[in-house]
Amino acid sequence: MPKYFLKTYGCQMNKSDSERIAGILEENNYKPASDMKEADLILINSCSIRQSAIDRIWGQTKIISKLKIQNPKIKAVLTGCVLKKDKRKFKERFDLIIDIKELSKLPGFLKNKTSINKHYLKIKPKYETSFRAYIPITTGCNNFCSYCVVPYTRGKEVSRQAKEIICEIESLIKRNYKEIWLLGENVNSFRSGKIDFPKLLEMINNIPGNFWIRFTSPHPKDFSNKLINTIAQSKKATEYIHLPVQSGDDKILKKMKRPYTLKMYKDLVKRIRKSIPKMALSTDIIVGFPGETIKQFENTIKLFKEIKFDMAYISQYSARLGTLSSKMEDNVSHKEKERRDLVLTKVLSKTALKNNKEYIGKKIEVLIEQKKKTFLMGKTRSYKSIRFKGNKNLIGKFVKVKILGALPWGLKGELIK
Ligand code: 5AD
Ligand code: SF4
Repeated sequence: MPKYFLKTYGCQMNKSDSERIAGILEENNYKPASDMKEADLILINSCSIRQSAIDRIWGQTKIISKLKIQNPKIKAVLTGCVLKKDKRKFKERFDLIIDIKELSKLPGFLKNKTSINKHYLKIKPKYETSFRAYIPITTGCNNFCSYCVVPYTRGKEVSRQAKEIICEIESLIKRNYKEIWLLGENVNSFRSGKIDFPKLLEMINNIPGNFWIRFTSPHPKDFSNKLINTIAQSKKATEYIHLPVQSGDDKILKKMKRPYTLKMYKDLVKRIRKSIPKMALSTDIIVGFPGETIKQFENTIKLFKEIKFDMAYISQYSARLGTLSSKMEDNVSHKEKERRDLVLTKVLSKTALKNNKEYIGKKIEVLIEQKKKTFLMGKTRSYKSIRFKGNKNLIGKFVKVKILGALPWGLKGELIK
């Protein structure tokens, strides 16, 4: 049987896309290879949100070229969130370059036949684990934040049919899945006929079974009071929200084309915390956006100190071809971006540690994800990483853990027998 090696870069949406790629390959009798060297087919599923992602693809092409010298029969495929212009640069390095939406072309390419055209979200995924499933509910984005390549790579926002989503989740719950992640670039603008995002959450919450619901990424502009109330009333919706703010300065937010002010963002956080006091919050931040002054960066520090995020994904600004901000002067030096990244990480580590210390002594529910050396690793409902000793046959199960210690990026505990 031929073997494939699939390398995935990027967000959960890309991971979910890779589950569909694996699904289509295994349906065509390909088996996974544990190493690139063993593979007949090498696939790179990449994002291009920052230049570093593109540089990583170049790195991979060097390895692929060497393997192809040893075995010219090896085929290499590039797919994912990559701009057409970037894809053209890789033309010589891959046998096939396809948009993720053209995934149904893959079997045809493998067998030298033309393939049927099927929407890629209708392709059956091969879920990476037997307890966690990523479910794309929307794809694409209409927001055109000035720095972001996604609206160009993934195209217009489209929602899947609610009926199809519910069916997929029902079948997963029957198979004992414990964690359902709803995915979308702007997940809370989902709409299928009369069903909006809060209604969809409510419908999923009503599916019988013991499981958690998570979603990412919501846009602050679409975070209604109705959504807050639904989360508060849904037992299965977990106490964790990733709420990208991107900057702590109103002028920068305007230049980023983020349609809210800091006052609106802070007010939203206040409303969320009032309804769901245990809610853990994370965010996305870009440091060194074109024209970001020290004072404007300090406003982001101020925001971090005020909100006390549990986690933040901090990115150094990287100009992306075709975006609005790529026409602005990228005038914050690399060194200064690095400094701002470090300063903010330090502030975050203090608030995160303080928040994590609140858990010490508590007994909480944990979903176990994996075993690393002698420790089981899992997540709390609030998406805190936690480690404790235990047997690997508990992977994929809910257990109760007593929290014994806190670190900035996680918790330590002991299993309650
Ligand atoms: N440069 C740096 N970070 C970016 N992001 C998106 N585009 C860029 C860019 N050009 C970050 C944003 C987004 C996250 C997924 O990646 O913070 O929320
Ligand atoms: Fe990019 Fe903005 Fe859409 Fe998020 S909301 S994917 S940052 S354009």
